Amino acid sequence: MPCDRPEELSGLTREMVDALIAMFEKARAGAVAVDREARISWINESYCRLLGVAEADVLGRPVTQVIPRSRMPEVVESGDPLLLDIMEHDDQHLVVTRLPWFDDNGQVTGAIACILYDDLQPLTPLVARYRRLHQDLQAARKSLTRPGRTTRYRLADFIGASPQALDVKRKARLAAARDLPVLLQGETGTGKEILAQAIHAESGRADRPFVAVNVAAIPESLLEAEFFGVAAGAFTGAHRSREGRFQLANGGTLFLDEVGDMPLPLQAKLLRVLQEGEVEPLGSGQVRPVDVRVIAATSRDLAALAARGEFRLDLYYRLNVVEIALPALRERPGDLGILCESLLAELSAGRSPGIGITEAALQRLARHDWPGNVRELKNVLQRALTLIDTPAVIDEPAIAQALPAGNGEALAPGASALPGGLVQPLAEVVRLAEAEAINAALEATGGNRTRAASLLGISRSALYEKLGRMSG
Ligand SMILES: Nc1ncnc2c1ncn2[C@@H]1O[C@H](COP(=O)(O)OP(=O)(O)OP(=O)(O)O)[C@@H](O)[C@H]1O
Ligand SMILES: [Mg+2]
Repeated sequence: MPCDRPEELSGLTREMVDALIAMFEKARAGAVAVDREARISWINESYCRLLGVAEADVLGRPVTQVIPRSRMPEVVESGDPLLLDIMEHDDQHLVVTRLPWFDDNGQVTGAIACILYDDLQPLTPLVARYRRLHQDLQAARKSLTRPGRTTRYRLADFIGASPQALDVKRKARLAAARDLPVLLQGETGTGKEILAQAIHAESGRADRPFVAVNVAAIPESLLEAEFFGVAAGAFTGAHRSREGRFQLANGGTLFLDEVGDMPLPLQAKLLRVLQEGEVEPLGSGQVRPVDVRVIAATSRDLAALAARGEFRLDLYYRLNVVEIALPALRERPGDLGILCESLLAELSAGRSPGIGITEAALQRLARHDWPGNVRELKNVLQRALTLIDTPAVIDEPAIAQALPAGNGEALAPGASALPGGLVQPLAEVVRLAEAEAINAALEATGGNRTRAASLLGISRSALYEKLGRMSG
């Protein structure tokens, strides 16, 4: 085959292609060639038959218009061959090879592709293995992204050195060592979620699932299915059986967040599950054993609810074997310094030097009553950061401006809750405004989230979702 400088060329030359085309012209296998623009320059009869097209109709057309999954544009673009690939066409799987060709100067001038197999039969074992690997990969990805099966907090993440905070940590350590139910009581933003995760992470069940369920965030009609699962055909639309959170947590820990919001009928069912160690998926008529350690949390006074008959006393006793009361931030003002240090390090992650805070700013923080507790503190610091010119030290004026406008006072009409004059990405502005409105509503209602949600004109579950995002 005549070729001037074959040793310098890494692909086919024009002459080689001519020879190939002559061979493919007669062969049973489909083959197609494209020019530099990935337009069809030649196609053999077999390929036309397979595609159901006439040669005259496709010559000169972009290849992907005729063969939608073709990767020829990539080959002419990169100059690299795709030696073996599986291409889907209609419902067929074609094994194809694609080779670029070059002119005498080594420039790509086109590419040729041919079908090696139009029937995957001989490759069945290989394809079956490929499919299995692919399915395993998908399943692994899904389980990694499934929310709430793993923990991200340890006890060291609960920041505080005051006697109250140290007492909480001591109790949490004791609770982790014993396989007993735990009840976490504390206002919003006091760290109940951190503690629940930390207790699991330091317990003997650490390498088993941690499954969280926020009772207040799930519509009442779905709670039972969510907790105990559903058998296939239990009701219209339940085509497949679905595991409940109890089954998902089997062997590990179930975190029942906002347990004080649980409707009474479900409380009776939960009590039975805890007593018997068995669940009955909806519509299954069968019981399944489960082994879970329950950690419950609430921002409401469960004892008072029980006294009023709104929470079952027997369930209260069952959940409240180890009780940990989380102090409100205003009860441990001595921790403000260490909390600011840790939250600012988190907020300025990666930046150096880190951000500091002045003594006067800390004193200003200590005068606030923090209905949203540490979550609110994190928010105020975040906002203060947007108010200082050089992000090195947060001073008192920045804190004064970042704090909500007076206890329960609404902003003056027309006053902006956002840092004046600063242009920021819209998403950031919206996020700050939302956090601001939520903190103001919690402030106005003394931390009562049901009333805060109604003041904000959103549902309780929407408020929980937003609070969750603000924690992240
Ligand atoms: N002691 C603490 N140390 C460090 N960060 C804390 C502490 N307490 C709370 N936080 C932070 O405050 C935010 C809220 O905490 P968390 O979600 O644990 O509160 P919560 O008590 O579950 O609140 P809610 O009742 O609203 O669900 C999170 O960003 C968390 O990191
Ligand atoms: Mg929480």
